[in-house]
Amino acid sequence: MALQQKGMHGTWVSRWTFIMAATGSAVGLGNIWKFPYIAGNNGGGAFVIAYLVCILMIGVPVMMAEVAMGRRGRQSPINTMRELVTESGASSWWRQIGWLGVIAGMLIISFYAVIAGWALAYIFEMTSGQLQGASGEMAADVFGRLLADPSRLIFWQSIFMVLCVGVVVGGVKKGLGVAVEILMPILFVMLFVLLGFSYFQGDFEAGWNFLFSVDFSALSGRGVLEAMGQAFFTLSIGMGAIMAYGAYMPQNANIGKTILIVAFFDSLVAIVSGLVIFPIVFATPGIEASAGPGLMFISLPVAFGNMSGGLLVGAVFFVLVSIAAWSSAISLLEPAVAWLIESKNMSRLQANLLVAGGTWLLGLGSVFSFNIWADSTVAGFTFFDFLDFLTSNVMLPLCGLLIALFVGFVMKKEFVDEEMQGLSPVFATLWRFALRFIAPAAIIAVFVMGIYDKFFS
Ligand code: PHE
Repeated sequence: MALQQKGMHGTWVSRWTFIMAATGSAVGLGNIWKFPYIAGNNGGGAFVIAYLVCILMIGVPVMMAEVAMGRRGRQSPINTMRELVTESGASSWWRQIGWLGVIAGMLIISFYAVIAGWALAYIFEMTSGQLQGASGEMAADVFGRLLADPSRLIFWQSIFMVLCVGVVVGGVKKGLGVAVEILMPILFVMLFVLLGFSYFQGDFEAGWNFLFSVDFSALSGRGVLEAMGQAFFTLSIGMGAIMAYGAYMPQNANIGKTILIVAFFDSLVAIVSGLVIFPIVFATPGIEASAGPGLMFISLPVAFGNMSGGLLVGAVFFVLVSIAAWSSAISLLEPAVAWLIESKNMSRLQANLLVAGGTWLLGLGSVFSFNIWADSTVAGFTFFDFLDFLTSNVMLPLCGLLIALFVGFVMKKEFVDEEMQGLSPVFATLWRFALRFIAPAAIIAVFVMGIYDKFFS
């Protein structure tokens, strides 16, 4: 059985397709929406440096480990873990990594689709003309009305899920592979066109200084922890997505080099997004580079509405955000879909309908968190806040930690070395050290701090 299902989903056509797919997974709302504002809140340039150090020292090593596990198992994360555990004679307890990843992925996609739906809705808000010359209040009102209307939120959430199923149902080569090869180049072209607009029409100097003036005194210990958390989320580590994609990676591709390229693209998009957003925001007097959802859905629309040609550019911006979210969300569906095909004998279509239907239903909880259930909170959490907290602050670090420990200490070294062929001895030693010590220590710090922050501060 295990042998038969091994590799049954096929592989990416080339290493390049894997790079596009992994970059597609990594580049998402985390880069375009979250990175710019947390960078701005944490001392700009100093945070950017801390973030890049975390990506290199913690994110890249763990991502390499996750890909190596996936490629060795060549199945969905759940069955991959089963195989790796048997192969290395490890305690079956480690299998939970697979389950944890797949479940976290499904929980995330349930609310990720709701937020992505906002971006889809905003493509049309931009072109409808109602934001022409809008004030901050008017823009806040447009956003508020969207959130208050469950039927509109469900409409856009559903469209987004259908788009995702449309890709995943096509399988690894013809669905995911083709989609990322088309979407990623479009995303990069759009991003650089927007950068041009922001350079000529925005206050580029102010935006640049906001992001890059290095002032280490503005960076707190908490800021460093936020940089670490962001490094994990943005690289899509610890949710089964990268393990599933690794399972389709050609055997001869060098994992170290490939992941460095992915991390480079991911960081590039985050930084360029900041350089698109802040100059535009600063060009409009009286609006704040405020934190949270407001930056993308309120401040930015006001800025676009007050620039010549801004609304059209704004629509392009939200197409970009939607594409980024789309190419991330498909990587969240795939692990569970692959598992149902392998273990429950389903067709790809059946598996997709089941996973998408289930997560769509769960997503309704997040939809209602913004309106009819907004006041029903448990321990201060709405349903949406709870899922966000549980996945980003608990499941993701836990899974990342287990991955680092499993590959660092538990998996037999000869198997790890087989997957890591081509890695120079120095790089290999550094990698192992990062997995065994740096990453676990850092993750535990983020984990404890995140929980402490939420409940005791
Ligand atoms: N990396 C994505 C982002 O930055 C989010 C994501 C996490 C996607 C995990 C897939 C898996 O938005």
